[in-house]
Amino acid sequence: MKINSPSSLCVGPTNNGSQALSETTMKFNHTLGATLAAALLATACGKKEEVAATPAPAPAAAAPAAAAKTSVEVLHYWTSGGEAKSAAALKAMLQAKGHEWKDFAVAGGGGDNAMTVLKSRAVSGNPPTAAQVKGPAIQEWAAEGMLASIDSVAQAEKWDELLPKVVADVMRANGSYVAAPVNVHRVNWMWANPEVLKKAGVSDMPKTWDEFFVAADKIKKSGNVALAHGGQNWQDFTVFESVVLGVGGPAFYKEALVKLDPAAIASPTMTKALNTFRKLKGYTDPASTGRDWNMTTAMVIGGKAGFQFMGDWAKGEFTAAGQKPGEGFLCAAAPGTANAYTFNIDSFIMFKLKDEGAQKAQADLASAILSTEFQEVFNQNKGSIPVRLGHDMAKFDDCAKLSATDFVETAKSGGLVHSIAHGMAVDPAKTGAIQDAVTQFWNDDKLTVADAQKRIAQAATN
Ligand code: BGC
Repeated sequence: MKINSPSSLCVGPTNNGSQALSETTMKFNHTLGATLAAALLATACGKKEEVAATPAPAPAAAAPAAAAKTSVEVLHYWTSGGEAKSAAALKAMLQAKGHEWKDFAVAGGGGDNAMTVLKSRAVSGNPPTAAQVKGPAIQEWAAEGMLASIDSVAQAEKWDELLPKVVADVMRANGSYVAAPVNVHRVNWMWANPEVLKKAGVSDMPKTWDEFFVAADKIKKSGNVALAHGGQNWQDFTVFESVVLGVGGPAFYKEALVKLDPAAIASPTMTKALNTFRKLKGYTDPASTGRDWNMTTAMVIGGKAGFQFMGDWAKGEFTAAGQKPGEGFLCAAAPGTANAYTFNIDSFIMFKLKDEGAQKAQADLASAILSTEFQEVFNQNKGSIPVRLGHDMAKFDDCAKLSATDFVETAKSGGLVHSIAHGMAVDPAKTGAIQDAVTQFWNDDKLTVADAQKRIAQAATN
């Protein structure tokens, strides 16, 4: 376990907070170790309110006996415009079931801050009712013995038949469902402003990285920012995985970033991917460092920038701004990745709680999340697609329709791959370490590509 001086971790909202956190708290598997670091961080910074939007509530086990409604505390990190609308749909759905929603929103894209706060709460014996946790982290929480099984709901509602196998596998630990999936996000997207492209004389969305750089040069010349990028570690990592996928293809991506095969990480294909990734930096603006992802999307929405590489939660921002695909904005798979799909599934884990009202609320939450009605409303706001097999996509926009088709097609062709940048591919400790190596390379122009390959390989074996 590696913990820096706590005071060095105190970061303002515009600094790269999640990077500092990741370098320290993401390096270990053990919940207790992570929590101690988080507790130190909170104490040293003395500004808990910057990460936790709601004050710490009373322990769940001591819920007010006379309360008519059970208060359901749900930890999430959906705080941007589009995300807040989605969270509101979750709140409305729970309230309709007679429960009281207690918002536990922790700002910070990608969720690193939220995970730190969650660990701190859980180890002090005061976990929330439910928390937005995904990927292999679900199994880590289950291994700590802290999760409630939701098998009774899953069996009654036939989740095994309702969910794609690739999704169901992530939601189970030791054969039991311990998490409820909300959606399927695609990460390998490229978003664009059609007016900015037109002004620069770019007539088509680039399909290869070579085409991308030609288009980007034209946009730069026309006086706009070619690539809107928020320089935070998880955003760097998000762009990186799309570049690796586009340069190497899905089979290579799996070897390098899911199986973490040392030969793939050391290969000339990875060298090419890192060179391509570094070249992108020349098309970003000087104010990129530390910028939040939604402010970055706002540059495309507002006509300041041509492109952004980001998962389809960015579509939630375009939609919340009243824009429609094909009109206000364009979507396409990131260059070279049309035959592939990096998936990222948001889900909620339920903590083991003694209070029967809380247990009932957890069952209601799990059941409602999978309902057709909720899937329809939530995913239209969130930018993702429904997680239920065979959901009617008629009312969804064209980007969502493309995502739904590609999800099915790539599952058949082998192009459906776990997003490493969004915690689906490998355990949180390794994810954090590899992310750090990638972000160091992005930020330090003096680091050679060969050094970056060595650092990624090292991070992958620790
Ligand atoms: C989550 C999304 C979220 C995004 C930005 C992703 O990792 O899956 O739900 O909107 O991060 O915070």
